[in-house]
Amino acid sequence: MVAAVRVHKPGGPEALTYEDIDVGAPSPGQIRIKKHACGINFIDVYFRTGMYPAPSSPFVVGNEGAGEVVAVGDGVKDFKVGDRVAYVAGPGGYTAERLLPADRAVKLPDSISYEQAAGMMLKGMTAQYLVRHVHKVQKGDTILVHAAAGGVGLILCQWGKHLGATVIGTVGSKEKATLAKKNGADHTILYREEDFAARVKDITGGKLCHVVYDGVGKSTFPASLDCIRPLGMFASFGSASGPIEAFNIGILAQKGSLFATRPTLNTYTASRQDLLATAKDLFDVVSSGAVKIPINQKYPLKDAQKAHRDLESRATTGSSILIP
Ligand SMILES: NC(=O)c1ccc[n+]([C@@H]2O[C@H](COP(=O)([O-])OP(=O)(O)OC[C@H]3O[C@@H](n4cnc5c(N)ncnc54)[C@H](OP(=O)(O)O)[C@@H]3O)[C@@H](O)[C@H]2O)c1
Repeated sequence: MVAAVRVHKPGGPEALTYEDIDVGAPSPGQIRIKKHACGINFIDVYFRTGMYPAPSSPFVVGNEGAGEVVAVGDGVKDFKVGDRVAYVAGPGGYTAERLLPADRAVKLPDSISYEQAAGMMLKGMTAQYLVRHVHKVQKGDTILVHAAAGGVGLILCQWGKHLGATVIGTVGSKEKATLAKKNGADHTILYREEDFAARVKDITGGKLCHVVYDGVGKSTFPASLDCIRPLGMFASFGSASGPIEAFNIGILAQKGSLFATRPTLNTYTASRQDLLATAKDLFDVVSSGAVKIPINQKYPLKDAQKAHRDLESRATTGSSILIP
């Protein structure tokens, strides 16, 4: 038996139950991992509340982590006991040990620690596909990052700056503004107090942004569209404030023939080849020092409820991890 955090019935943070579970031996194609750190993400909240359907009942929360391989199932060729690995996968993460399809695991280079990996596989690979694929950030671009001091936000700010963009970040407090600036944001906007679209217009001299990276959702829509120059991209990748309601697609024409997408990491890393390429790009940029992974909250596994309360109340910055 190993320690885990499960949800028996969707609900608030109190739905997270710390208990022992039986993990079992890996089936063919699976590996068993002893976790050194588990990543915490907003998607864990969506699963906990039932906004995303539970994979089973009860289920172990958490989609990201890092650790060492302790057993391999039949047919697994790429991994052996003792390998250092990290992953993003379906729920099952907040636990001391877990089973995982081997084709979702990635070997960790020596330059990346377990804690860094747990703090960046989901958030960092998301930042990777956003700046490399959804809109290929070029030198001279102007990009807007909402919730710039958050987990994905701080990585996006650094990566965007590294690629030569002018980075504008919206943040919920002055402290978060200072942090975003330390991590690559050229300009910050206190979007709870200021009209962020008007400020973006001001900052860019009316030229607006090539892309808006929006993980906030409901509360920043449709004003985000007013921050985008004609033919620019609206990348709506999350719903921290709630989902965006149905809208008339004609609004994209009115705002200047905009592109809009609602991408997911799952799609961008669906094939093994894409997963490995995305992870490699992330490992390279982090190993080079160009992008740092600020792990600003670390909790014992048993304190998952507190970790969720902090995340949902906007009390966290950068990445959060649980230590089994
Ligand atoms: N599509 C994908 O592939 C993908 C992958 C990873 C993450 N995501 C999404 O990316 C977003 C960021 O994820 P994360 O794990 O890095 O979280 P996070 O940014 O560390 O935390 C969410 C932040 O959103 C802001 N926020 C604005 N309104 C909020 C509200 N009503 N309630 C709570 N927070 C609010 C807060 O920052 P301020 O105080 O500065 O406003 C908060 O700190 C989430 O929407 C997540 O679902 C999507």
